[in-house]
Amino acid sequence: MSRGGAARTRGVRSGLVAALVVASCGGEPEAPPPPSYDFGLPPGFADPWVPPDNPMRAEKVALGRRLFFDARLSGNGTMSCSSCHDRAKGFADGKAKPTGSTGDLVPRNAMGLANVAWFPQLTWGNPTLTTLEQQALVPLFGEVPVELGVTGAEEIVLGRLKADDDYIKAFAAAFPGEAAPIGFANIAKALASYERTLFSGRSPYDQYTYGGKADAMSEAALRGMDLFFSERMECYHCHSGVNFTTAYRSADTKHQEMDFHNTGLYNLGADGAYPPGGEGLFEFTGDPRDKGKFRVPSLRNVELTAPYMHDGSVATLEDVVDHYAAGGRTLPDGPFAGIGSQNPNKNPLVKGFVITADEKADLVAFMKSFTDTEFVSEPDPPAP
Ligand code: HEC
Ligand code: HEC
Repeated sequence: MSRGGAARTRGVRSGLVAALVVASCGGEPEAPPPPSYDFGLPPGFADPWVPPDNPMRAEKVALGRRLFFDARLSGNGTMSCSSCHDRAKGFADGKAKPTGSTGDLVPRNAMGLANVAWFPQLTWGNPTLTTLEQQALVPLFGEVPVELGVTGAEEIVLGRLKADDDYIKAFAAAFPGEAAPIGFANIAKALASYERTLFSGRSPYDQYTYGGKADAMSEAALRGMDLFFSERMECYHCHSGVNFTTAYRSADTKHQEMDFHNTGLYNLGADGAYPPGGEGLFEFTGDPRDKGKFRVPSLRNVELTAPYMHDGSVATLEDVVDHYAAGGRTLPDGPFAGIGSQNPNKNPLVKGFVITADEKADLVAFMKSFTDTEFVSEPDPPAP
């Protein structure tokens, strides 16, 4: 795909999203929301931001949970959100790049969804998707690539839900007072409400840091923590806060920064190009300085979300550390050959460092202490 092609496609997608969001605003007013929703968060975690037009309700969460796992939500009935977002893999899929319901290759690595409620921008490199409601429409309706393939099959998909008594009841309970609650705007609202409950914060790291449990982390992980937060490695500047990313928005956030960085993964030309279709922020701004810039990903459950980076091109956490130690990745040959450490857009914090084999093992042990086994082993709903 050409650069222009990628940019145009993304533009069409956002146009579609905008149209659907606008269309969804004209419906009946929602019943008065309950005064507050209890996210049940442990100490250390602030309630996430929730859009005023989609207040949390337990019934909406339950509906969204069902929809998330239901393949009837795809045009050809073969794929659900959970096909690419598998709870056991931290809601990622274990592949470098997934395939959509009609066989299209998706150009990005599927992301884990733990604590997605706190991210102010969604997906790897898109500054315009700022709510989970908008984002859900992309896999549903996107045409390049096709993911769930609902475009052109809208009535078929809605027909399946309208023919199911359980869904009729669940939509009515989630959106009380609405005459015709089964529609895509409400599907997106329910999915988003469910996603806002995907809270992961009971890992050994959390037990140690927020739970005051001094023996929750191994000695190796504790040594790795010192490295992660050191000026030698600089990881914490970008992977900071409760989700190890500067991308953060809570109910109290007043001012929102945009934080996209190039880590020197590629360097295809004099201006630091990345492979076509994977150029990050540049695809939206057209500014050559934005080539290769991506949102800092969360490191929640990162042990389970391999392979890594926006294109899944880094296989293991050890390889990720090698990439940073070298101050950027060198690819000696092949179509994407180049010296990433010399990428002109690279963030200066990715400056490279010397690390021993033991230190590398410790740093990886620290990242593995973010694995929340309680979160990933919660039972999924039975197949509808
Ligand atoms: C064919 C695989 C596939 C399917 C099906 C799929 N996703 Fe995704 N998901 C991805 C990929 C790939 C990305 C990263 C996209 C990008 O950066 O352009 C992603 C990103 C996301 C993100 C952004 C997470 C973050 O940290 O910013 C959310 C939220 C999400 N998906 C929710 C959903 C929902 C809800 C559904 C069902 C309606 C769904 N996905 C269906 C592959 C998939
Ligand atoms: C300048 C900001 C910055 C610094 C410093 C930084 N990172 Fe990153 N990190 C990023 C960005 C941006 C990505 C995504 C890059 C991409 O996909 O091209 C990323 C990706 C990752 C990933 C892959 C996550 C996934 O889900 O695929 C891991 C693991 C990681 N970084 C760990 C580290 C460690 C360990 C350090 C310190 C040695 C570090 N980072 C330093 C910004 C940074």
